[in-house]
Amino acid sequence: MEVVPLSDAVGAEIRDVDLREPLSQRTIKEIEKAFHDHAILLLRGQDITLEQQKIFALHFGELGSRNRPGPKPNELDEYGEHVMLVTNVRENGKPIGSLPDGEMTFHADTAYFEFPSKATMLYAMELPSWGGNILFSNCYAAAEQLLEEIKRLLDGKKAMQVYEYGTTLKMKEKYDRENFPHYAHPVFRKHPETGRSALFVSELMTEEIVGLPKEESDAILATLFEHQKKPAFVYEHEWKVGDLVLWDNRCTIHARTDFPRDERRMLRRLTIQDTKPVIEGRAPFSQAAAE
Ligand SMILES: [Fe+2]
Repeated sequence: MEVVPLSDAVGAEIRDVDLREPLSQRTIKEIEKAFHDHAILLLRGQDITLEQQKIFALHFGELGSRNRPGPKPNELDEYGEHVMLVTNVRENGKPIGSLPDGEMTFHADTAYFEFPSKATMLYAMELPSWGGNILFSNCYAAAEQLLEEIKRLLDGKKAMQVYEYGTTLKMKEKYDRENFPHYAHPVFRKHPETGRSALFVSELMTEEIVGLPKEESDAILATLFEHQKKPAFVYEHEWKVGDLVLWDNRCTIHARTDFPRDERRMLRRLTIQDTKPVIEGRAPFSQAAAE
């Protein structure tokens, strides 16, 4: 197999691996290493069943449940509890899956839980003629390239993560914490495998920096969200049918671009559950500032 970077920002393509075949221990080790080195893996041209997708996912940990609070789509039961269809396909006017339409703001999947998803895997089955691209932002690089005074301000702080189901764009001033899950996680999250600190905030889900006055918290978050969108940190992926993408929610955030509502789009999603608590990291101060 071959590992080819997707961009200067983040991600790598794994070539010469066919997920219909069993993988050798050596290949699995190499893929794991690439996952930790690059945070996002792309395998193109895969023609796999759900079972084959699950077998690959299980190399990275236990499968997470797709079940979540809030209004339930009439998802096809035969897919089972671990599978989410990310699709705008409708039957009798109701979406058969989740997250059907339009743009999505940057986020890390299930950051509002105490144990967020470790990784997410999407497999592209049907795509519209344009759009629906996925953007990834590298949260290690974003952390490292913050101004030193912002690192100092945020070091040791927590950020409140909230999400209202069905919301894909952050439009509200404040999310409803009474009725939706929320959790305060460290702003700088230590990755348990790489030991690196990642900036664990996102525009869709992070509501406040705990302990800062509201105005200051709002201002610093607005700065962080713009910082995370800098082209130097972002890779934009244009899907092709048969693409399988696996991303690490501990050190990347992702967003989706708009696409035509009247064209079919279907991706099959599995998540890998994290069974360990989120680890607090330190701000990655530059060498000069640390001295
Ligand atoms: Fe997501």
